[in-house]
Amino acid sequence: MCGIVGYIGKRQAAPILLEGLHRLEYRGYDSAGIAIGGKGKLRVAKRKGRVRELDTLQPQKFKGTFGIAHTRWATHGEPSDRNAHPHCDGSGRYAVVHNGIVENAAALRAQLTDRGCIFTSDTDTEVFAHLIALMDDGSPLESVVGAALGRIVGAYGLAVVDAERPDTLVVARNGSPLVLGIGDGEMFFASDPAALVRHTTSVVHLDDGEIAAVRADGYETRTLDGATTVKTPSTIPWKDEAFEKGEYTHYMRKEIAEQPDAVRRTLGGRLDTRFQTTHLGGLQLGARDLLDVRRVKILGCGAAYLAGAVGAHLIETLARIPAHAEPASEFRYRNAVVERDTLYIAVSQSGETFDTLAAVQEIKRKGGRILGIVNVVGSTIARECGQGIYLHAGPEVAVVSTKTFTCSAVAMALLAIHLGRLRDLSVASGARLVRALQVLPDHIAAILAREPEIAQLAEAFAGAEHAFYVGRAAGHAIAAEGALKLKEVSYLHAEAYPASELKHGPLALISLQTPSVVVLPRDDLFAKNISTVEEIKARGGPVIAITHPGEAPTTFDRSFEIPALEPELDPLLLNIPLQLLAYHVALQRGTNIDQPRNLAKSVTVE
Ligand code: AGP
Repeated sequence: MCGIVGYIGKRQAAPILLEGLHRLEYRGYDSAGIAIGGKGKLRVAKRKGRVRELDTLQPQKFKGTFGIAHTRWATHGEPSDRNAHPHCDGSGRYAVVHNGIVENAAALRAQLTDRGCIFTSDTDTEVFAHLIALMDDGSPLESVVGAALGRIVGAYGLAVVDAERPDTLVVARNGSPLVLGIGDGEMFFASDPAALVRHTTSVVHLDDGEIAAVRADGYETRTLDGATTVKTPSTIPWKDEAFEKGEYTHYMRKEIAEQPDAVRRTLGGRLDTRFQTTHLGGLQLGARDLLDVRRVKILGCGAAYLAGAVGAHLIETLARIPAHAEPASEFRYRNAVVERDTLYIAVSQSGETFDTLAAVQEIKRKGGRILGIVNVVGSTIARECGQGIYLHAGPEVAVVSTKTFTCSAVAMALLAIHLGRLRDLSVASGARLVRALQVLPDHIAAILAREPEIAQLAEAFAGAEHAFYVGRAAGHAIAAEGALKLKEVSYLHAEAYPASELKHGPLALISLQTPSVVVLPRDDLFAKNISTVEEIKARGGPVIAITHPGEAPTTFDRSFEIPALEPELDPLLLNIPLQLLAYHVALQRGTNIDQPRNLAKSVTVE
């Protein structure tokens, strides 16, 4: 998704901004550009394609100590050199980079064209540059930009540079993240802290409706109405090295391998072996508040939603509270009933997913109680929720979620045990689950150590264009996550079905060329799942079972067995081989594993 980075200080801006663009590459984009100010002029370079293609225009040679840069993910107008950001006014004095969508762009474009502006792109963003040029009355740049934003309907994270005001850059936020980075006699900003950590970990998150004047020696923030706001800097808890690929060929593989440590951090200080429960310091809801909870609704998108589906099963099983997960992107549009005795939970790795944020805001507006399960500290969803459970999984760079899916599900387990132990979950059951969580990272490590076996399973997909992923109850959420991983990174068509649903339609598609991956825990639904396996085999479909050791009344074409831990937590372990399976199928097919086509790491637009 689009990325912004900016710099003002004493150093040459271009190398800093280009390095920042490389840091934003993981988010997904189709073009990149940069504008550097110096000696009363702006120098702009932009290009369709990767940042390395922008590098061929040699923007690193642009001299100047302030500038802005951008990676674009097309919304208005095809990916092309002319639609890449920055966009300038007709004179080339002002340049703008923008994340988001200007909803009234067509009307503004018509008005500006009538006033003689000549547009050189198909983007909505270009209207900003012309508006600012027309509205500049010599006031401070932040006032001019603020006035121009008054004409805009839509969402934005925005940065503006004026060649003739070398001491100030202006950024503004409404619905799309922007973070200021505080340096020593220099300032940075970005839409993602990943672009800042090499230079500073001291950051200030802008809120919606805020505008900031950024100067080398500091910043001032205000609302669009002109009221000064006071911000408190916070610290990014990640080191620059955490963003490196290290010995791994792909970030996805690295992040899969990091899971034992990531899970240890999610669990850190949260297991209470005295009362055999969990301790969740980020919750502002006390025992009495939590006892009043009659229903739980979990919201997220993509893998975060599916981690929520695992969590819903855990909460319903362990706490006996009706719990349900729903895609946040659906919830926000359907005028949902928000009840005071429902606990709402937003799950998000980035904490910036627009649909999830909109769902959180809708729930809050209707008076609902919400907590966040979020990875990025200080992110918008985390701040909007105001309470919750941080994953502490470390940065996730690959577009596909792996370690944060697992850590979100672990955070859900912590919450489920907490809610359960306030109700009918016994001390003995609490102890059993707390013990299992203590050894969970080691069990994950043991599965990862058997990667060559899983790589062999991937051979079952040779010649396949379609696959089924099948599971029951929590196993279905794991199957759905396995299918999501496979389609994202291998581009194979993968469908997840509840095991019981196959005979109601999808069996018609079973063939020798359609492998079915069956999530098959040895639990009280094992016999039912075996019937499903028989149904598939009877129609000639190859079956790959992800299961526990033990006699099975049927033989699988291929299988991967992992030791059972505890039935409630086993789905978390059954997921690990599916991540590696997707990775190895993608490796065999030679796809772009870390940046799959058409996908962005963090979907910050509608
Ligand atoms: C999953 O592999 C993807 N990364 C995607 O589905 C992701 O989970 C979704 O876009 C939500 O992102 P979030 O966790 O940052 O909110």
